[in-house]
Amino acid sequence: MEDKHPKMIPIPVRDLINGSTCPVNLHVRIGNDKFVLIEKAGAKTFKDRLLSYENKTVEYLWVKREEYGRLIDNNITIAGVMVSQQSLSAAQKVQILSQAAACVFTELEHIGLGFDTYSHARQIVEVTVALAETNNNLNTLLNSLNDCSDELLRHSLAVSSVSVLIANALNWENKQTVEKLALGALLHDIGLKALPPELVNKPRALMSFEEIQLYEQHPYKGMQMLLSLGMVPDDVAAIVYEHHENAIGQGYPRKLRNIKMHPLAKVVALANDFCEMTVRSATNPQARSPREALITMETVMGQPHNKEAFRALQIVVNREYAKAAS
Ligand SMILES: [Fe+2]
Ligand SMILES: [Fe+2]
Repeated sequence: MEDKHPKMIPIPVRDLINGSTCPVNLHVRIGNDKFVLIEKAGAKTFKDRLLSYENKTVEYLWVKREEYGRLIDNNITIAGVMVSQQSLSAAQKVQILSQAAACVFTELEHIGLGFDTYSHARQIVEVTVALAETNNNLNTLLNSLNDCSDELLRHSLAVSSVSVLIANALNWENKQTVEKLALGALLHDIGLKALPPELVNKPRALMSFEEIQLYEQHPYKGMQMLLSLGMVPDDVAAIVYEHHENAIGQGYPRKLRNIKMHPLAKVVALANDFCEMTVRSATNPQARSPREALITMETVMGQPHNKEAFRALQIVVNREYAKAAS
């Protein structure tokens, strides 16, 4: 992630949608406090041109803080329209969704969690649910997300999408419930933003006792961040608080058992463990296949999650192999 700046927000060039009309002025940073306008609002973005400015590789372009909301609105609108286009492949749709979501996660990083970021996250969730309804291909989804630039975004979008696939396999039909599920899943690790970054990136096996205790506060901190906004449904806050619990009472922070867990958190806790194995990260550079992840959950972890949710995840995973075999 690029340095923070009080007036400007960086956007990774790879997260720009190629060939679309960019609604904001784009700048290149040439010094600590110096920015040069290279593309005016209304021009079409061409990544190849933007990637090499004066023959230098430019990874980030910069947008004025007050214009940033316009860029997000634009990208979410494009993603919403693209998801219903039959001419696009599932992989292209996931890519467009993750580009729009990347802008929202950048907003979270540089502006913080406020009304705007929360409402943008809700819009991302609407697109995620719509995408899962039309394309339920788990492998395409996970493979496409593996290209995503930001690690937390990659993980959060994966947990959100997998949670929706599980809900669909459980035949949950209430759209509002599924959207709350997807939103809690998208924001489930937001409490990590309140921890020192070096701790977040440290493998758990290398953490001291005190570091583990601090790390395990992130579900509570995340819930508090959301509740302080004053408009977040309790269900969404409960998902965030309980995403590291499991049905056998061996999770954290409260060691809840299945019966005490929030029904939506049961799904997200399972999706979270599954995505930690199947989506690459600094601590998991070699992502496992979905089937390997299920086997690990059963044989190594003793399948600690809610049984119905796990059966639904098995349906989601096995459907992929059945498709591939036919
Ligand atoms: Fe977490
Ligand atoms: Fe997580």
